[in-house]
Amino acid sequence: MSKTVLVTGGTGRLGSLVVPRLRAAGLTVRVLSRRPGADARGDLATGEGLPVATRGADVILHCATAPKGDPTATANLLSAVPGRPHVVYVSVVGIDAMPAWGYTAGKLRCESLIAESGLPYTVLRAAQFYEYLLAPMRRMARWPLIPVPAGFHVQPVDATEVADRLVELVLSPVPGRAPDLVGPAPLTWAGMQRDYLRATSRHRRVLPLRIPGTAKVRAGGLLPKEPYATGAITWADYLGRVGTERPRRS
Ligand SMILES: NC(=O)c1ccc[n+]([C@@H]2O[C@H](COP(=O)([O-])OP(=O)(O)OC[C@H]3O[C@@H](n4cnc5c(N)ncnc54)[C@H](OP(=O)(O)O)[C@@H]3O)[C@@H](O)[C@H]2O)c1
Repeated sequence: MSKTVLVTGGTGRLGSLVVPRLRAAGLTVRVLSRRPGADARGDLATGEGLPVATRGADVILHCATAPKGDPTATANLLSAVPGRPHVVYVSVVGIDAMPAWGYTAGKLRCESLIAESGLPYTVLRAAQFYEYLLAPMRRMARWPLIPVPAGFHVQPVDATEVADRLVELVLSPVPGRAPDLVGPAPLTWAGMQRDYLRATSRHRRVLPLRIPGTAKVRAGGLLPKEPYATGAITWADYLGRVGTERPRRS
């Protein structure tokens, strides 16, 4: 009988890439969402619907996130789970370097909650997705002068490669922390913004500005440390695929 996978965040940026891949791999997939018509209606913030949503799941792939409240959401999920499903959690590369930032502190707390839950688990830390970084770059490209964070070093990755890796981890779980997953090359925000402008034939000035509180990022804190794996899809490949679509009112 095929495994049943409950996917939290299955309607989100990453989750909506993972769900069809899991189904194509022959798994039975249930998507948890607050939206009407969801396979499993539930709210991680309040715990509503979670006991029913998690029932019978062999694997819980936890992709849900919100700007605030991820530790409460994760604690609610873990306390609702019956039995001993394998929990696969998606986290972010480099969060140890930013323990004071609200969102990354929350991700670290979620990792600890899962590790201390007594359930079998896998944590995959992924780098920032190209899609996530492109969204503000597109918006800023309307401005004649584009301020960007100076020295913002990242090694972003294509979200489809993260989705592929998550399917592998659901099918063949790695205990504990899996090697981090990043893209093929370290990049800077300024360089990526310029690449986007070139790809869309715009002439704008990019102005790197030093943002207070980002010293650790400038020192490479968001870059991966061994052990890590790299995806094959480059920023240029990604821009070639989607980046030249212009935003509507440009
Ligand atoms: N974005 C990146 O660049 C990046 C990089 C590395 C790792 N990650 C990690 O990858 C994971 C997915 O990120 P993403 O960017 O794909 O997220 P996203 O698009 O913002 O997705 C948010 C998802 O979370 C669900 N959600 C939020 N609050 C909920 C609640 N109270 N109850 C139930 N569901 C809730 C939403 O479901 P409904 O609205 O349908 O209820 C939605 O499906 C996160 O853990 C993130 O930290 C992201």
